[in-house]
Amino acid sequence: MPDPGTPPVFPPSSVVLVSGASRGLGLAMVEGLLAEGVKVAAFARTVTPELEALAEKHPDVVHVDSVDITDQVACKAFVKAVEAHLGVIDGLVNNAAIGQDSLHVHTSPERIEQIIETNLTAPLILTRLVLRRLLAKGKRGRLVNVTSICGRRGYPGLVAYSATKGGMDAATRSLAREFSGRVLANAVAPGFFASEMSAVLGQTELDQILRRTPSGRLTTAEEVFPVVRMLLLETTNINGQSLVIDGAGSI
Ligand SMILES: NC(=O)c1ccc[n+]([C@@H]2O[C@H](COP(=O)([O-])OP(=O)(O)OC[C@H]3O[C@@H](n4cnc5c(N)ncnc54)[C@H](OP(=O)(O)O)[C@@H]3O)[C@@H](O)[C@H]2O)c1
Repeated sequence: MPDPGTPPVFPPSSVVLVSGASRGLGLAMVEGLLAEGVKVAAFARTVTPELEALAEKHPDVVHVDSVDITDQVACKAFVKAVEAHLGVIDGLVNNAAIGQDSLHVHTSPERIEQIIETNLTAPLILTRLVLRRLLAKGKRGRLVNVTSICGRRGYPGLVAYSATKGGMDAATRSLAREFSGRVLANAVAPGFFASEMSAVLGQTELDQILRRTPSGRLTTAEEVFPVVRMLLLETTNINGQSLVIDGAGSI
């Protein structure tokens, strides 16, 4: 019998679900996790040729499908299919999100609702689904929420988006408390990095961000992955944190 007074040790995640893995950071994380020998489940609304190629190359350790994170029925079916194919998910990376590029007064109520549903409500429901199934199997797990410096700093044109990222940061802290001893829950909060989402930034905005960034350059998706890797695979006591990766641009 383990001593009930012994602090829990969290095993590295062996089956990780990455949402929003068709491109950008999500795809980079799938590739990185596979290189670490982790089994990876990945979805997005579109299964891109890049994601499809990974599934074809590693059929025993990769499970991909087209799923809209706001479709609860589809998410549940996906999670069950992953369990049958790869085993119980013991690592979840909430990465799927949509961006914004409009002043608040010019953003339609429908768009505001869509941003909140995609970036906040749906990831919380997916987290509930995955953690319930994990805990029911008596296992420990790890959660990484991909948030943003927009959750802590203001940016024009990103009001609803920022609200969702700040919301996920706050949820991370409460999840760490609530699942104490069972789930290590953390967030990574990147600064702007090149992707389809950030392609809306103009040169003036990029120059301004660069001027404000002591390290003198923007973050890359490849620089976010090692932090996610650590939170999923290393033995650490980091819990309930939101780790900013932005070259100190937001301090
Ligand atoms: N790029 C930045 O500057 C930056 C900075 C800080 C934080 N972040 C965060 O980093 C994460 C990745 O962003 P990225 O820059 O890599 O963006 P991206 O290239 O636009 O990728 C977003 C991913 O989410 C998926 N997605 C969007 N809506 C979805 C839905 N309803 N259901 C399922 N999947 C959905 C997209 O695929 P489909 O469209 O095919 O569904 C795509 O795979 C996001 O959480 C973002 O907020 C980005």
